[in-house]
Amino acid sequence: MSPAPRSVEIAPSVLPADFANLGDACVELEKAGVDRIQWDVMDGNFVPNLTFGADVIASCRPLVEVPFEAHLMVTEPTWILDTMVEAGCRLLIVHAEACRHLHSTLGRIRDLGAAAAVALNPATPVEAVEHVLDLVEMVLVMTVNPGFGGQAYIPTMEPKIAQLRRLVVERGLDVDIEVDGGIGPATIAGAAAAGANVLVAGSSLFRDPEGKAHAVTELRELATRAQGA
Ligand code: DX5
Repeated sequence: MSPAPRSVEIAPSVLPADFANLGDACVELEKAGVDRIQWDVMDGNFVPNLTFGADVIASCRPLVEVPFEAHLMVTEPTWILDTMVEAGCRLLIVHAEACRHLHSTLGRIRDLGAAAAVALNPATPVEAVEHVLDLVEMVLVMTVNPGFGGQAYIPTMEPKIAQLRRLVVERGLDVDIEVDGGIGPATIAGAAAAGANVLVAGSSLFRDPEGKAHAVTELRELATRAQGA
């Protein structure tokens, strides 16, 4: 018998926010009812974009209670792990493609007292993480190529999400599956039905004409309904 669906969590990316007012954005997101806030940390090397570091995240930490997670789109990220934890991130996501020694890096995150997660770019197979699933709280399946918000969802990632979900269930692991990229009302059901339970939304949430709270409620309802379908 397949296990009960994992609880749906809506995790906004602050990438679309006004970078001159990130603190206000965090307060608005918390008021809108998000479950966590994702910080897209980009180094200009792993991805062709540059965003923010630990100091920016730390400046927003005291403003809200909601958990922070850092999506580290950073080549060989070991140098940044401790500052991200000190900045107040509860969970750190590193890319399998960016870590020469992924098992060791995930262990380092856990040694720092944070939760560890690993992200897979669209072309990277699930097999790349099958030997580290015991170290992670979550696997992020990218549904766009990382670096920018506002890109189109890649639906061919859904079989990959389902394959990962089967692997997690077969091994009886307590692991969330997150998706990130192009998630909105038209795409969230496919990702959730495939097995994702933590859903990152940037553009769709920030651009909802009825506001962030409406977007959060709608996305959560659509994902929860899709899990039960
Ligand atoms: C890509 C980023 C984006 C962002 C969300 O590197 O990780 O996926 O968080 O972007 P939207 O929701 O605008 O596609």
